Amino acid sequence: MSNKKPTTSASITSVLHEERVFPPAKAFSQAAHIQSLAQYRKLYDESVKSPDKFWGKRAKEELVWFKPWTQVLQWKEPFAKWFVGGQLNLSHNCLDRHLDTPTANKAALIWEGELATDGKPGEERVLTYKQLHREVCRFANVLKKNGAAKGDRVLIYLPMVPEAAIAMLACARIGAIHSVVFGGFSAQSVADRIHDCGAKLVITADGGFRRGGVVQLKKNVDEALTLKDAQGNALGASIQKVIVLRRAANEVQMQEGRDVWWHEEAKLVGVECAAEKMDSEAPLFILYTSGSTGKPKGIFHTTAGYLLFAKLTSRYVFDLKETDVYWCTADVGWVTGHSYVVYGPLANGATSLMYEGAPNWPEPDRFWRIVEKYGVTVLYTAPTAIRAFMKWGVEWPMKRDLRSLRLLGTVGEPINPEAWIWYHEVIGHGRCPIVDTWWQTETGGILITPLPGATPTKPGSATLPFFGIVPEVVDDTGQTVPRNTGGKLVIRKPWPAMLRGVWGDPQRYNEIYWTEIKGSYFTGDGSRQDEDGYFWIVGRIDDVLNVAGHRIGTAEVESALVSNSKVAEAAVVGRPDDLKGQALVAFVTLKSGVATNPSLREELRRHVAKEIGPVAKPDDIRFAEALPKTRSGKIMRRLLKQIAAGGEIKGDTTTLEDFGVLARLSHGEE
Ligand code: WT7
Repeated sequence: MSNKKPTTSASITSVLHEERVFPPAKAFSQAAHIQSLAQYRKLYDESVKSPDKFWGKRAKEELVWFKPWTQVLQWKEPFAKWFVGGQLNLSHNCLDRHLDTPTANKAALIWEGELATDGKPGEERVLTYKQLHREVCRFANVLKKNGAAKGDRVLIYLPMVPEAAIAMLACARIGAIHSVVFGGFSAQSVADRIHDCGAKLVITADGGFRRGGVVQLKKNVDEALTLKDAQGNALGASIQKVIVLRRAANEVQMQEGRDVWWHEEAKLVGVECAAEKMDSEAPLFILYTSGSTGKPKGIFHTTAGYLLFAKLTSRYVFDLKETDVYWCTADVGWVTGHSYVVYGPLANGATSLMYEGAPNWPEPDRFWRIVEKYGVTVLYTAPTAIRAFMKWGVEWPMKRDLRSLRLLGTVGEPINPEAWIWYHEVIGHGRCPIVDTWWQTETGGILITPLPGATPTKPGSATLPFFGIVPEVVDDTGQTVPRNTGGKLVIRKPWPAMLRGVWGDPQRYNEIYWTEIKGSYFTGDGSRQDEDGYFWIVGRIDDVLNVAGHRIGTAEVESALVSNSKVAEAAVVGRPDDLKGQALVAFVTLKSGVATNPSLREELRRHVAKEIGPVAKPDDIRFAEALPKTRSGKIMRRLLKQIAAGGEIKGDTTTLEDFGVLARLSHGEE
């Protein structure tokens, strides 16, 4: 492995990519779960040579089973079954199992709200494992009382409060399948998801705090339950009850017979609730995520394999110890919140910190105040947040005592080396290893990552595969490409936390993930492997954008735009953005007779926010007379991307239907 230091700071960026290596500090390695590259390689080789033995051993050691499994893996491509025949319960494995150990009285969740009701920051709650167990059992009884049973789908639309974790664990306890919807999604998105999975219950709150304002969650649910499809059928027809958490002291309408208050229901039930015996392959949750076509699809995960993988990746990637205060800043509305705020840490008996609000509320040092206040030891956040901190200035983190930190992580998008170095120096004081973790909603847990005591890191590379994971970079025919050549990132073998399907659509699952490269799982990402075998993820190569770590399908935003009566056609592309990684640029043609004006741009942005959610609002809308198309009528996205990025138009344009279009677009006719 090369270990050359950059010679001048001016050349740092280009040199970093290729040459700068950060070996783990000796003191860190000596105390780590995995202490050397050799130890990692030995375990890794075992895990891929004899996966049944490797995973079978871990499943026995790590999980509490009601009934043992008979077969580790049953693989009928593309369908996997892990730990076949076994029975267990996820909430039992995250809670009950700790109750007769010293962990019982340890903090399971430390929570800080964005605002106290008196207007000051710092409202806090701590739930020990014993307390969390009691609240989960109590709420599981509330769910049952309101008609939820094994296999039913429950939609969770809550702010980042302990009750979000309680609701998830309570669903798992009774065997109901949860689908958490991020609070930044609209009523329409809530309705679409309810309709797709046929949810019976919604759990929401009167509101949640964000940047000092109140997010109207219950109001959105009310609206969602009035929405209809094109045939006039109510999208929320399957909903029987709405359970409402009192959070923001916000006035809401309660519909008699349908809506009940969480706190009132909780008074009517007991705190004893035995965990249901669930099959290893019982669906655990559905998370909707954007793809290159159509509406978001419901990715679903099952119980045993997911839990085992979340538990082991949490322990080894974050080197979790008894004494850690671990903080993953993701919202539970995303898969990161599922695996690395709730399930992974709790399965390990760790202390997981949850923060409700924005990183710059009331001031840009909020994260660093939290690190200082609670003595956070492990911090896991997104490159987009790191770039924002860089912009806000070093004075904010410098004001706070960050010496408790010992390990830093990032996830969600490629991290540029500048941001990596800044994170390492300004937040980690040059002392903390950084784990750049690559994974997806579909993968359930981290697949490519350094192990902090073992793997020398290179800024910008997610480095090497986790145990049992066989990623490769391939060409269009599925052949592995030589080192330092770009290609498609695939995973060659099944792993315990892999998605089990697209909810209600096995065909689509097969088509999206298993037909692009025969016999392999296709990630949708481009990558290369360097001479050391390190993976450098380039990002999506399909029509999916990564905006501030949020995954947004261009097709989805396009259909939201054309659902506006003034829009004839729309094409959405990404443009590089210093802060968000990518920004959304929409090219729009209007119906005849509609004139462009500045307020129309804002109107269309608001329309997208209403259709999908504020997270999908285009950063830029450009009006055009026509969109550039090939003779066969395909929109020339490559061209639009170049125009959006403000670059010159390169490559062959002779297939353009209308050359004039190109000239008008690129000369800023807006
Ligand atoms: C996509 C998955 C996994 C939880 C958060 C996002 C990109 C994710 C990295 C990373 C480069 C990354 C990929 C991937 N991505 N982590 N460390 N380096 N790219 O989950 O919404 O399912 O998005 O995020 O493009 O495909 P998601």
